[in-house]
Amino acid sequence: MKFFIDTAEVAEIAEFNDLGLVDGVTTNPSLIAKSGRDMVDTIREICAMVRGPVSAEVTAIDFAGMMAEAEKLRAIAENVAIKVPLTEAGIKACKALSDDGADVNVTLCFSAAQAILAAKAGAAFISPFVGRLDDIGQDGMGLIAEICDIYDQYDFSTEVLVASVRHPMHVVEAAKLGADVVTVPAKILKQMFKHPLTDKGLDAFLADWKKTGQSIL
Ligand code: G3P
Repeated sequence: MKFFIDTAEVAEIAEFNDLGLVDGVTTNPSLIAKSGRDMVDTIREICAMVRGPVSAEVTAIDFAGMMAEAEKLRAIAENVAIKVPLTEAGIKACKALSDDGADVNVTLCFSAAQAILAAKAGAAFISPFVGRLDDIGQDGMGLIAEICDIYDQYDFSTEVLVASVRHPMHVVEAAKLGADVVTVPAKILKQMFKHPLTDKGLDAFLADWKKTGQSIL
């Protein structure tokens, strides 16, 4: 399972990149806005920090505009993946860009029907937003199961990239379903490390070790 970090904050990426856990990065217009920085400069800096794909999302809603923006974004670095929304123009752009050798991440996916379109268009990644479905009482992980089952029936090369992750159990469930990638906010990556019994057990080990008066070094 690949771990992408879902942020445009360079400091967060650096922290987890240092742990060797970052296989890629996903951004979107909201995350760029939250960073308060210039998009092109930010994507360029992130691309230099990680070897894996860095998703940069177009903001145009028409095909021609998407293609013009994608050309500029692709020129930033070779590991830029172009994010397009799951719309008719986005799918058309996905097909044209993937035919031209670009990695495309089709985002804002909320149904299996949409995921089939993205795979047909040669997307490198499909991003179903599980948290936003859960937020309205629909089954986000159920969609992941559906998409994985459908994709397994065919030789689609599109990787299922679980997005809009709200808690560590989304990561666990995505792994159980065999999703290829999960993109996780830094806060949730941090939560994944924590368990009270680990903390308690380590404290007990160290307290007992201290009693020995020994030192390994
Ligand atoms: O990568 C998509 C993700 O950033 C969306 O998350 O929490 O806005 O649904 P959220």
